[in-house]
Amino acid sequence: MTKKFYITTPLYYVNASPHIGHAYTTLAADVYARWKRMSGHNVHLLTGTDEHGSKIEQAAAAAQMSPQAYADKISAEFRELWGHLDVVYDDFIRTTEPRHKEGVQAAFKALVASGDAYKGVYKGYYCVSDETYWTETEAPPDEKGRRLCPNADCRRELKLTEEESWFFKLSQYGPRLLAYYKEHPTFLQPPQRAKEIENFVAEGLRDLAISRTKVAWGVPVPDDPAHVVYVWFDALLNYATAAGWRPGQAAPFNELWPADIHLVGKEIYRFHTVIWPAMLMALGVAPPRSVYAHGWWTAEGQKMSKSKGNFVDPQDIIREYGLDAFRYFLFREMPFGNDGNFSAEAMKRRYNAELANDLGNLVSRVTNMVDKYLNGDLPGRPNLDVAVVTKRAVAAAPDIADAMDRLAFQDALNRIWAIVGELNLTVDQRKPWVLAKTDPAALKGLLFDLVGALRVVGGWLTPFMPSTAAKIQMALGVRHYPGPLSVHEIIEGPAGQRILPSVPLFPRKP
Ligand code: MSP
Repeated sequence: MTKKFYITTPLYYVNASPHIGHAYTTLAADVYARWKRMSGHNVHLLTGTDEHGSKIEQAAAAAQMSPQAYADKISAEFRELWGHLDVVYDDFIRTTEPRHKEGVQAAFKALVASGDAYKGVYKGYYCVSDETYWTETEAPPDEKGRRLCPNADCRRELKLTEEESWFFKLSQYGPRLLAYYKEHPTFLQPPQRAKEIENFVAEGLRDLAISRTKVAWGVPVPDDPAHVVYVWFDALLNYATAAGWRPGQAAPFNELWPADIHLVGKEIYRFHTVIWPAMLMALGVAPPRSVYAHGWWTAEGQKMSKSKGNFVDPQDIIREYGLDAFRYFLFREMPFGNDGNFSAEAMKRRYNAELANDLGNLVSRVTNMVDKYLNGDLPGRPNLDVAVVTKRAVAAAPDIADAMDRLAFQDALNRIWAIVGELNLTVDQRKPWVLAKTDPAALKGLLFDLVGALRVVGGWLTPFMPSTAAKIQMALGVRHYPGPLSVHEIIEGPAGQRILPSVPLFPRKP
């Protein structure tokens, strides 16, 4: 039993249809998963939907549907979108599934039994949108005496709320969490996010209310049916319940746990780096190996919101530019981990300059020249001494691999495009159409170099643009091999394979 490389996305709320922000996290998980598979790992990618809580209750009521019917509908939209985005996942969990609800109830019981959960009264300022309680000091009154949600992306008015509640003794886990962060320096990712979490924990944690009486749509608390389990306590457990966890199982279990990486947006980083590992500690399960927070997209310089109605719909972009261009843009435009802006203008500019020109044009030029001058035949064995760009592409491999391992996707793409740039420059400077008349031997060497480097580029592009990469490799005669290829296998290609003139990969947009 070898452990799989276990990657997760957040579970998306089913209160509204998916948009570019959701697509981003899931595509990042897909890019990373494809990269890991390419490098020989047995990957397990989990995604799914978060279906309980008052937000969904309210959205369903507004649509005049039952919460379950509403959740069914939106959950299906997410699944459908992942299909359109070419996301390869291994499991899709819905928090309304029995396998999950049973696990949540079992976890709740286990915490009550161990004394980690107790009953009390909760009083606080509640944000319905974020499903979060805030204290008086966290949400001081503004000039008008209103208390607004401190989450800068929310700022809705809070409600003073008092209710009987079950609590999780989060306050006792501060020292263990700090020790865990220290002993596992790769847990908090990217590294620049670590300090904020460490400081937050070091200031002291409060116990966490983990049940609600004001919400009906949720997992019932075992033996206390007036309460449902707090939606975050419910949802976080999915990473374990989807892996088949039940109380009593310590890690490792089912070839999956501990999870290798939870990918999350920055706004839910604390839930995943403080509450979740503390819950696992209380349940006697090892915390995940890392949690990575990425930044947020704005649309045309504005925060996306329901009221503005300015959510970018991935399907619109795909219709216009194709799927691979969308996948490419998301990871080239903004460094993973930072915030960034989506604009139609930037999308088009990158499409025309980097995809249609730099890459697409290069592939058709090179394949057409091999067709025209060499009748589609490349020499079987290259002379690597004269294959300058190919050598450079091979030399770039460790840095690109390192960038991919760090989820520095933009950095990886920048390095790949540096090679693409060199290839274009080489064509312009060495003018194969002139060599064709003056020096056929040099021409062969040059075309081999161009093809060899492009074969490597095609390999690197696979996680980002799977079907474009496949088209490039097909045109360049790289056939399917079982298992990961060594760089040299890629460059040489199978002997006797013909090079085919390629159709334009990215037709220019006027
Ligand atoms: N249901 C919770 C997560 C529970 S995980 C156990 C939740 N769901 S969500 O539907 O609101 O979306 C979560 C994720 O969508 C965010 O963490 C983030 O990854 C992504 N994004 C939503 N809007 C985004 C942007 N505008 N930009 C980038 N990503 C954003 O939170």
